Amino acid sequence: MRTTLRLPGRAALHAEIHTSTQLAMLAGNHRWRRFVLGAGSNLVLTGDFDGLLLQMAIRGRELIGEDDDAWYVRAGAGENWHQLVLWTLAQGWPGLENLALIPGTVGAAPIQNIGAYGLEVGERLHALEAIDMQTGRTLRLAHADCRFAYRDSVFKQEGWHLDGQRVITRVTFRLPKAWQPLLGYSDLATELEGQRSSDANDSPNTRPDSHPNGHPQGQADSQATAWQIAEAVIRVRSRKLPDPATLPNAGSFFHNPVVGASLAEQLAIAHPGLPRYPQPDGRIKLAAGWLIERSGWKGRDLGRVGMYEKQALVLVNRGAACGAEVMALAQAVQADVRERFAVELLPEPVFL
Ligand code: EPU
Repeated sequence: MRTTLRLPGRAALHAEIHTSTQLAMLAGNHRWRRFVLGAGSNLVLTGDFDGLLLQMAIRGRELIGEDDDAWYVRAGAGENWHQLVLWTLAQGWPGLENLALIPGTVGAAPIQNIGAYGLEVGERLHALEAIDMQTGRTLRLAHADCRFAYRDSVFKQEGWHLDGQRVITRVTFRLPKAWQPLLGYSDLATELEGQRSSDANDSPNTRPDSHPNGHPQGQADSQATAWQIAEAVIRVRSRKLPDPATLPNAGSFFHNPVVGASLAEQLAIAHPGLPRYPQPDGRIKLAAGWLIERSGWKGRDLGRVGMYEKQALVLVNRGAACGAEVMALAQAVQADVRERFAVELLPEPVFL
């Protein structure tokens, strides 16, 4: 099975899915366990899979509607996410630019509610279609049915996509015509400012509020175009995150932990500089990368795997590692962070 972390693992059976009809034809067959694979960019293989691998390859992207407020764009679950982002921008439909260069497929994007640089895909998702693998019927889910939260959705629940019981086939995005640049993430704002100065356009810009891990609060400096934002995101990501093609990885390996306000307060006293991002529910999100770095794991290896030297939240396969080594490193990092900060890190990718 091909995954971006490049761990060994074979599936007993394999079917490439190009249409929802193919899926419907497989429905009701309980002989094999099923697993749906997109680009494998959020997956840790722990060994062989004794079941049927459904390789999602449903293609297609089109404008299916438009009203005064938005464009509605539908894409097949097997489309490449980044190519979809670039295509929508080229068509003149901005709105996904902050999510440029995220590896993976369109159908996988809602599952973990991919998010970066102040935007989560759930904020742009209008509806989606899935096939119920018990009955073969098409299910239609509206935005509210998806129950999006930070790196979470209904699709992570039992009975949904990952165990192949209901399989996402097409996703419709709502791209608002009243487009506003989202520049609340400090790295992105800094990158755009740098771009401006190097373009010799040195008119002073108002620095947006800095909310590195939450939703942007302000929309200062709204001169940036969607393309400029996408380019800035691509540059920032390319600098910080390893390209899976050259250094296998699955992106952030842990969720950023969300803790109670009193624990966050105590930690901040004991560890000055601790990044803290207040959440709408009063809890505080911490930066897992910061905790991992302060636990001594940034750039450190265990066997053939390690935590990336430029972003401690990313676990990398330095060559020919297996799933057991990944789990050993993950557990060692979790134990050290637990001991030092009394915070539990939860892995972000799916384990198969
Ligand atoms: N930090 C460190 N050391 C590190 C890494 C980070 O001190 O090694 C600190 C940074 O200095 C900053 C804070 O931690 O103060 C947050 O770091 P960063 O802005 O790099 O973002 P992140 O919280 O580590 C999250 C997402 C990324 C996403 C970025 C940008 C999660 C689990 N990860 O990372 O998503 O690209 O924000 O929005 O929420 C992914 O999910 O695969 C992914 C890459």
